[in-house]
Amino acid sequence: MSKECPYKVLREPDAVREVLHRPDDFSPANALLTVTPIGGQALRILQRAGFALPPVLASNPTQSHAGIRKVVEGFLMPSKVTAMEPRIRELAGRAAAKAARLANSGRTVDLVQTVAAYPPAIAMLQLLGLPVRDVPLLKTWSPESLELFWGWPDLDRQIELAHSAAEFYEWLRDLVLESVRSAEPNVFKSLAAHGLDTAEICSLGYFLLIAGQETTTQLISTILFRLLEGSRGMTWDEAVSGAKARDIVRHVLATESSVPTWRRVSCRDTELKGEPISAGEEILLELTGNHGFPWTADDSADTGDCTEREGHTSYGLAFGSGIHRCLGAKLAELVAVVVVQEAAMALRNIRLHNSNPDWFKLLSFQAPMTVEVKVRPARP
Ligand code: HEM
Repeated sequence: MSKECPYKVLREPDAVREVLHRPDDFSPANALLTVTPIGGQALRILQRAGFALPPVLASNPTQSHAGIRKVVEGFLMPSKVTAMEPRIRELAGRAAAKAARLANSGRTVDLVQTVAAYPPAIAMLQLLGLPVRDVPLLKTWSPESLELFWGWPDLDRQIELAHSAAEFYEWLRDLVLESVRSAEPNVFKSLAAHGLDTAEICSLGYFLLIAGQETTTQLISTILFRLLEGSRGMTWDEAVSGAKARDIVRHVLATESSVPTWRRVSCRDTELKGEPISAGEEILLELTGNHGFPWTADDSADTGDCTEREGHTSYGLAFGSGIHRCLGAKLAELVAVVVVQEAAMALRNIRLHNSNPDWFKLLSFQAPMTVEVKVRPARP
């Protein structure tokens, strides 16, 4: 697959950081636009569902961003995230124990589905005050919406993905209407109280409910795979230690995060590090190492550039920087550490069954699709 790169690609961390810190010059207005133009038939499917994504949070370049961000931030405060740790550990422990039972019965077990999929979604819904239901549906819709927006689907695939996105959007709208009327505190009710209408809350919810958990599932998948592969200087058994689990989470965040790139567009003719940039130029910021794109020579999971990028924290720029920095960073890191640690504790005697899985590789999302393991044969 070879395509021409439509972006000005920036990889140097100081340049990336500068762009993120100059929101008046470099707007996030293109952050959630489809990478591939959507064809007429797929568009009609979305329109019939009333699907619309007005800019509200991640792609909102206006003054209203700060107030809306504050509302969402209130549900993801570090103290609330820390208080969730016992619940996250319970979810992760239960998932890992189930995976261990399946593996011990001699089956091949996919750790993406059994261990990485559910704890991030349940933890996120609970923190946001939303009902924990239809999680299997959410886990099906999530990668499909990510592919529709950040992938290169052909027209037939776009139609399939549009049906999925429309179904999710209709489900979401019902959830928003119900949550706004609910007596219990929740993020959608607070956004309505802040003055957002249903379409704006749905737009925010669409991004939040998908990216707020699928990215963590993907991060955990990559970490489990690299640990079992033994390619990152840490053994599977070592990850039972909380400190080691944190090290590997931060290492993977810095080298091959689930969100390796993010987009900005220049608002005016300007310059960056002495180089001219024209108004309207679309910029692809490489936040961490990545597995290549359709226009790079090394478009493969084995040959992509997953070297560590220097950053300003121990995990570099994986969560962005500046006024749009990820609001879920603390939650994502905690969930990843706990899930990895619990998996390493429960599944002591496993080995990688497939060392060459297919990778989910979109413009801004990446992860192995499966992490299949089996119990190690007993030594004679
Ligand atoms: C490993 C998991 C995650 C990664 C790698 C990640 C990465 C990112 C990145 C790169 C951005 C754009 C930052 C920028 O423009 O400067 C972002 C924005 C955002 N993320 Fe995350 N994220 C993750 C998990 C989460 C979770 C768990 C939540 C919430 C439950 C979340 C909520 C958000 C929100 C609300 C924004 C938009 C913030 C704004 O525009 O003000 N993310 N994330």
